Amino acid sequence: MIEAETAPKADVRPARTPRHVGVIMDGNGRWALGRGLPRIEGHRRGVEALRRTVRAAIEFGLDYLTVYSFSSENWSRPIEEVSDLMGLLKRFIREDLSELYKIGVKIKVIGTRDNLKPDILALLEEAETLTRANNRLTLVVAFNYGSRQEIAAAARLIAYKVAAGLIDAAAIDETMLAQHLDTAGIPDPDLIIRTSGEQRLSNFLMWQAAYSEFVFLPIHWPDFDRQAFAAALAEFAARDRRFGGVTLPQQNAKVKI
Ligand code: FPP
Repeated sequence: MIEAETAPKADVRPARTPRHVGVIMDGNGRWALGRGLPRIEGHRRGVEALRRTVRAAIEFGLDYLTVYSFSSENWSRPIEEVSDLMGLLKRFIREDLSELYKIGVKIKVIGTRDNLKPDILALLEEAETLTRANNRLTLVVAFNYGSRQEIAAAARLIAYKVAAGLIDAAAIDETMLAQHLDTAGIPDPDLIIRTSGEQRLSNFLMWQAAYSEFVFLPIHWPDFDRQAFAAALAEFAARDRRFGGVTLPQQNAKVKI
C-alpha cells in the first residue's frame, strides 16, 4: 500500500532537492545470499523497497524517479531468475497500479519493447495509459533498458530521417539526439543513487548522466529506506554542481558591465 502526503509539492520541496533522481537498485542477490535465502527473496524484498522509495520520492518533492528494474544484459541470468523478475514486474503493476494512479503517479517505461512477451507489454502500456494525465511524480521504469542500445536506436532513427530527406545531417546536434532517446522530454537526472557498494553506471542513463551527481551507498537495495534516501539527498545538497563552469564567490556572482 502506498501512502502519500497531500501537501502540495511546492510546500515540501526543500532548497536544493533534486528534480530527478535515478536509482540503480543493486544488491538483491547478495542481500538474500547473506541470509541463506533464495535470490528471488531478495528481489521480492526489493519490490518492497521500491514501494517505500516511491512514497518517499513524493514526500521529498521530486518530480521524476527513474528506477533500473531490468537491464538489456539481465537476460543472461539463469532462466528461472529472469522468469522470477518478469513475474515480480507483473505483480507489481497488477497490485500497485491503482494505488499509484490514485496518489498521482505517472508511469513512463523506457527500454526496448520489441522482444517483450505480449502480457508484459500489455501491462506496461496499461500502466502508461491509465496514469498519463497524472503529474505528481513521474515514475520512469527502465525495463529491458540499456543506454548503448537506446543511443544506437536514436542514431538509427535519425539516420532513417536523413535518408528520407526529413532532416539535414548538418542539423544533428545534442538537442536532436536527446529528442530521439526514450527519455525525450524528461529532464536529465540530477542525482544517481546506486546501492550495494558497486561504483559503476552499468549501461544506465549514460547520455543523460553527463552532469549527474553520484551517491554510492554501502547497503543492499532491500535495506534502502526513507532514511537512506534522505541521507543521499543531504549529500546531494552539499555538492557543488558546476556543469563544467566555475563557482564564483557570492559577492562576485553578478558581473557588472
Ligand atoms: C540487482 O540486484 C537488481 C536487479 C537486477 C533487479 C531489480 C529489481 C527489483 C528491485 C525488483 C523488481 C522490481 C520490478 C518493478 C521488476 P542483483 O540481483 O544484481 O543483486 P546482486 O548484485 O547482489 O546479485
